[in-house]
Amino acid sequence: MDLGLKGKTAIVTGASRGIGLEIARALHAEGVSLVLIARTQESLAQAARAIVSSGTGERAPVHPIAADLGARAEVERVARQAIERLGHVDILVNNAARARTGPFFEVSEGDLEEVWQVKAFGYVRMVRAIAPHMMARHSGAILNVVGNTARTPAEDFVIGSMVNAALVNFTRGVSRELARHNVRINAISPGWTLTERQRRKLELDAAAQGTTMEEIERGEARAVPLRRLVRMEEIAALALLLVSERTPALTGEEIIVDAGATPGI
Ligand SMILES: NC(=O)c1ccc[n+]([C@@H]2O[C@H](COP(=O)([O-])OP(=O)(O)OC[C@H]3O[C@@H](n4cnc5c(N)ncnc54)[C@H](OP(=O)(O)O)[C@@H]3O)[C@@H](O)[C@H]2O)c1
Repeated sequence: MDLGLKGKTAIVTGASRGIGLEIARALHAEGVSLVLIARTQESLAQAARAIVSSGTGERAPVHPIAADLGARAEVERVARQAIERLGHVDILVNNAARARTGPFFEVSEGDLEEVWQVKAFGYVRMVRAIAPHMMARHSGAILNVVGNTARTPAEDFVIGSMVNAALVNFTRGVSRELARHNVRINAISPGWTLTERQRRKLELDAAAQGTTMEEIERGEARAVPLRRLVRMEEIAALALLLVSERTPALTGEEIIVDAGATPGI
């Protein structure tokens, strides 16, 4: 399927590893020029090199820009620089977040604030900074990577679940205003996805339980209806479709990709 993405431009936040890197890689393979954002300059530069070297012959530029999206001034700076580097922005993928799991009463005040600042306010501020530019061009697609805890909160992820619920609401809420300017916004809510970070967690669990990582992985998979963990490539494939020319009537939607773990209405 021709997604019509060749020659487009995109900002991907949280693009130095995990789901963000995978989405960035997939966009670049379609010929999309990129701005990659994360806090750590070195890992961003490494991600940019990996994307360019794994490219399928496409020569679209990749610009790493380090920024802490938990700080309002940083969001404004990085949005300005991204528009300068890319010329214009067709696609924004909001994905940066820091996972904070643990019992609710052990969440520190600092962590509580950070989770809201980075994921909730970070996503909202990026939309406020970039969408007006898309609206002026009467064209654009925004994707928020949220999480299946938005509708089904997790006991060890209460604040993160709240933030995810807020972001689904935001995605739906702002979609009508954006639609008037032909800008679409959608959300993907992954379930437990096998990123490098999650793989390390499986390794630690395996060591603690005196078993292998494969056995722990099989155990996790048995807990979901499709008996498999979500792969980053699956999220990236759906991301491409949602920001592509192939889904022009899709906006204000959340698609849950979690192997059937949280069926609900
Ligand atoms: N993996 C899962 O199982 C899963 C499930 C449901 C939802 N999600 C959601 O999917 C998204 C990606 O998750 P992931 O597992 O791929 O994450 P990850 O592997 O931990 O990567 C997070 C990315 O965000 C960046 N980042 C973190 N804090 C930042 C900040 N303050 N400013 C700018 N960049 C920041 C990180 O780079 P630096 O540390 O260098 O800044 C990194 O590039 C998140 O929104 C997460 O909540 C993931």
